[in-house]
Amino acid sequence: MDNHTIFIPFNQPPYTGNEEQYIKQALQSGKISGDGKFGNMCEQWFQSQLQCKRTLLTSSCTHALEMCAMLIDTKPGDEIIMPSYTFVSTANAFVLRGATIVFVDIRPDTMNIDETKIEKAITTKTKAIVVVHYAGVVCDMDAIRNIAMKYNVPVIEDAAQAMLSTYNGSHAGTLGQLGTFSFHESKNYTSAGEGGLLLVNHEQWIQRAEIIREKGTNRSQFFRGMVDKYTWVDIGSSYLMNDVSAAYLWGQLEKADDIFHNRMKTWNMYYESLLPLNTKGIIALPIVPDECRHNAHMFYIKVDDLHVRTQLLEYLKNNGIYAVFHYVPLHSSPAGQQYGRFDGTDEFTTKESERLLRLPLYYGMPEQYCKTVIQAIYQFFS
Ligand SMILES: Cc1ncc(COP(=O)(O)O)c(C=O)c1O
Repeated sequence: MDNHTIFIPFNQPPYTGNEEQYIKQALQSGKISGDGKFGNMCEQWFQSQLQCKRTLLTSSCTHALEMCAMLIDTKPGDEIIMPSYTFVSTANAFVLRGATIVFVDIRPDTMNIDETKIEKAITTKTKAIVVVHYAGVVCDMDAIRNIAMKYNVPVIEDAAQAMLSTYNGSHAGTLGQLGTFSFHESKNYTSAGEGGLLLVNHEQWIQRAEIIREKGTNRSQFFRGMVDKYTWVDIGSSYLMNDVSAAYLWGQLEKADDIFHNRMKTWNMYYESLLPLNTKGIIALPIVPDECRHNAHMFYIKVDDLHVRTQLLEYLKNNGIYAVFHYVPLHSSPAGQQYGRFDGTDEFTTKESERLLRLPLYYGMPEQYCKTVIQAIYQFFS
């Protein structure tokens, strides 16, 4: 292949065309801080699309997770159960409040937390179970909710990658007491680079979530005319999304179906074209359980081992194709060792994470790019 003529990026931030016009409107409105016109429109959209009680736009998914840690009253000594194969923020949000992280192994088929290994990790100190819907494929929520109910602990969904994914018809983020999403530029929908969303499904936490997002003040109630002055009432921080970011996001939500189907088309092309390599046992393709509808957030393949992955990444790079891997398992990171422990044996987390490689996939990716990547993978394995 001629490596001087192609350059296929791993990601391009989604842009549909209306974002600029809405940003201009926001700028001209004279109100660009949080809880503005576009922010409210986006929150209403999510409440109706996802079928949930209250959504709060935040400055990032990391911040939405930090709000979760406050909402469940995380204290030093508490234990939070989660997979080790996840982004650092899933753990950091709780460590910031003094918790110890208890890492549980993943399932090799979905790369999600292994629901059969959670119960053994529960102790009297367990404060919450945090699940991560990897690649937009929802965890086995029936099993997880049953365990959580048995031990009376909340379930928090880190649905950063799972916007518009469903599980038995219900949306990701609505299946636990709290759900968080990311609008980082690498996600299916972005709010101009950084942003997030918190879903508060537990009604009794809605008011407190608004307070935590507003620096610990009851300013939201003040604006609704519920109190005659606003004041400091709780812990909190500055977690609102500004209205310029929300205006960008609104441009994306208007085209949400288009973005969804466009990504799905690329995902399906990868899947169908690479299936023969999967059948021959040369690579493994993603597995989506019947009860899950995924959102084409990511297309990954798994090769034999770390050595093959390193070679394949290099081969693709030499051909102008930027594929990536991610998540050094948190329990093997310096901070993960300091602030957490792995429960049971690491049967799959390290091994499976070393095999995984993500292929370029973004809204508007030319079909020819997808074909070029597929061709390069076939050439590598021939
Ligand atoms: C699983 C998971 N959790 C949390 C985050 C953090 O999201 P943000 O960048 O919006 O803070 C990410 C971002 O990549 C993620 O993939």
